[in-house]
Amino acid sequence: MFRQTPPMGWNSWNTFGANINEQLIKEMTDALVSTGLRDAGYEYVIIDDAWQEPRRENGHLVPDRNKFPSGMKALGDYIHSKGMKFGMYSSTGHLTCLGLPASYEHEFIDAADFASWGVDYLKYDYCNRPFRIPSEMLYRRMGLALAGCGRDIFFAACSWGKDGTPEWIRGTGASSWRSTGDISDSWSAVRDLACAQHDKLLSGAINCFNDMDMLIVGMRGKGNVAVTGCTDDEYRTHFALWSFMASPLIIGCDVRNIDEESLKILKNKDIIIINQDPDGRLPLSLGGPAPYAFIGKNGYSLSRLLSDGSVAIGMFNMDDDTEISFQFSLYDVGLDKEHWGRTVLKELYTGEEIRPECGFVYAGVKPHCCKIWRLTVE
Ligand code: GLA
Repeated sequence: MFRQTPPMGWNSWNTFGANINEQLIKEMTDALVSTGLRDAGYEYVIIDDAWQEPRRENGHLVPDRNKFPSGMKALGDYIHSKGMKFGMYSSTGHLTCLGLPASYEHEFIDAADFASWGVDYLKYDYCNRPFRIPSEMLYRRMGLALAGCGRDIFFAACSWGKDGTPEWIRGTGASSWRSTGDISDSWSAVRDLACAQHDKLLSGAINCFNDMDMLIVGMRGKGNVAVTGCTDDEYRTHFALWSFMASPLIIGCDVRNIDEESLKILKNKDIIIINQDPDGRLPLSLGGPAPYAFIGKNGYSLSRLLSDGSVAIGMFNMDDDTEISFQFSLYDVGLDKEHWGRTVLKELYTGEEIRPECGFVYAGVKPHCCKIWRLTVE
């Protein structure tokens, strides 16, 4: 399926793991609507691992009868009736990561079943795969099956960036590819996953987005991948990083009980605009070797040219103790002297404004925090 912008939605894994059922998925769908998250752009409701019966029946995957007694078609219909799209999960191997039946050598039959259930998105994992078959062929098989299944299905590959994924994934029919191992609800996971992007950043692009894993915003240390939880500032930095890098934005918290500040972060239109920019230009480093300019040990800044001619600038302080003074010249953004004095920078979380009189911009950023600017010329 072709998509110009990264998909946005919700996935069951981060909070619920294997504890999923149709009532829960319906409640989450309703909560995405009532919180305004659907209208902010989060459209896919994705069921992750543990939706299947432990054995195929007549060659088909069958939804767990206790968890999903009404079947997947009915659940898909419910999700669609709320103006949202339906996502499901399988794996390249014989079994999923939780040891339930997966799609190896059943790709075409499964793709046809997904299509008949009204599925719009398939997350396709990497567990229990046969090692004798090249990874790109495992993904190509499902890519081919989906392309011919008669339904436009977003194909979300999940091979954790392994085995040279960025080199072959675009040829498989995948619409996104996981570049990382699994996230957990902790600052160290955010930092490690973001910093692991150094050599991958330029491999994400329109129609095959670099998926940095699902969001932890709002988990607050509760659920399947919970560890310590994060502070508001840490969730803001996490959300801005994923947005800046054009990662899919897939919420992982329990939206029924989301706190106000997390909701505000996830609904921040100005940050979402950066993620969803239709031109899909990838970030450049600001004044340093591409793709990142590191300032000191743990700070870096990125700039992204947006389709309306403005520039998004992100200053990220990944350090634990030290405030970082970021500085850049307007020349570094692409502006010559003519524009100095007419340039406005608006910080997208706080609304703070800077109008640099000379050609330099300075900003202090506290540990684990970020400043995300939108630069325009008046
Ligand atoms: C892998 C994936 C996770 C999740 C689990 C489900 O670990 O990377 O995102 O889908 O499998 O078992």
